[in-house]
Amino acid sequence: MLCLGIEGTAHTFGIGIVDSRGKVLANASRTYVPAKGGIHPRDAAQFHAANARAVLDEALKVAKIGIEDINLMAFSGGPGIGPCLRTAATAARALASWLNVPIISVNHCVAHVEIGRLTEGARDPVTLYVSGGNTQVIAFDAGRYRVFGETLDIPVGNCLDVFAREVGIPHPGGPNVERLAREGKRYIPLPYVVKGMDLSFSGLMTEAVRKHRAGANLRDLCYSLQETAFAALVEVTERAVAHTEKKEVMLTGGVAANKRLREMLRFMAKEHGAKFYVPPMELCADNGPMIGWTGILAYKHGVRHKLDDTVVKQRQRTDEIDIPWRSG
Ligand code: ATP
Ligand code: FE2
Repeated sequence: MLCLGIEGTAHTFGIGIVDSRGKVLANASRTYVPAKGGIHPRDAAQFHAANARAVLDEALKVAKIGIEDINLMAFSGGPGIGPCLRTAATAARALASWLNVPIISVNHCVAHVEIGRLTEGARDPVTLYVSGGNTQVIAFDAGRYRVFGETLDIPVGNCLDVFAREVGIPHPGGPNVERLAREGKRYIPLPYVVKGMDLSFSGLMTEAVRKHRAGANLRDLCYSLQETAFAALVEVTERAVAHTEKKEVMLTGGVAANKRLREMLRFMAKEHGAKFYVPPMELCADNGPMIGWTGILAYKHGVRHKLDDTVVKQRQRTDEIDIPWRSG
C-alpha cells in the first residue's frame, strides 16, 4: 500500500509518499516565507495552492511512481492555520475522490511523534515538540497521546523569531539567535516562567527585547534567552519523564535543530537513564511523510473517515485522537 500524505498546517506545503512498511519514498515540500513580519494566513494558503502541483509532481518523480499507484490519501486535519489547513484538505479530497481511494485526516502533533518513532526506533518516548507554532510535551498514556505540558501563550520558536525580528537579527530567527548565543559570555537574568506543567514565553520575549533597547549586549541576550527558554522546556520535559517513568526522550519540531537544546535534553535524559532521540531534521520540521505514515497506521488499524470527517479543525487537540495502533 502506498499513502500520499499532505502537510499544510502553517508555512510548509509538503507531500510525502510512504509505503505500508514505513519506507519513505518521497519527501517534497516548499515553504512560504513572509515578505515581512509574521505569517499572513491568506498569503500562506495562496502559496500552498500555487505550489501544490509542483510539489506533487516532484514527490511522484522522486518516488518513481504514477499518481494511479496511490492507494490511500492522508492530510493534516489540524491543528493549524485555517486557510492553510483548508487548502491542504481540499487538495487531498480532490485527489482521493479522483483516484477513488480512502482518505484519512491526521493530527499534526501525533504525526510528529509517529514519524520519530518510525525512523528512530523509539517505542514509547516522552516527546518535546517545539516549533514556530507549537510547544508541547507529549507522551502516550491510557490509549491516547496526552499533553503533559504546553505553552500558555506563544510557542518557543515564535519567541525566538519575534525577538530576532524586533532586535534586527535577520531571518531565519532561530538559527541566527543560536549562532549569536554561542558567542555570548554573560547570563543576563530574564523571566523564567513555568506554571505547574505549563510554560510561558511572551514575558520572556518582551523583556529580552526591552533589555536590548536598554543597551544590553546582543550576544549575551541571545545566550540568556536560549538558556532561559530551554531550561524551562527541559524542566517540564523532565517532570513528565519522572512522572511517566518512561525510558525514552525524543525531541522534534523545527527548534530541534538547536544544538544547545539537544545538549540540555540529552543530559537530562541521561540522568534518568533514558535514551535520547532526534529524528533527521527533514523529518523534525513539518513534512509530508509524517502525515502519510500516520495515515497508514490509522488505516491499517481500522480508522475510516467519511468526507464529513475531513472538516479541518484549527484547534484540534492531541488528546482528542484515538490511537488504535498503540491501544491494541
Ligand atoms: P509548526 O507548524 O510545527 O508549528 P513551523 O511552521 O514553525 O512548524 P518548523 O520548520 O517546524 O515550522 O519550525 C520552524 C521554527 O524552528 C522557527 O521558529 C525557527 O526559528 C525554529 N528553528 C529552526 N532552526 C532553529 C535553531 N537552530 N534554533 C532554534 N530554533 C530554530
Ligand atoms: Fe509541526
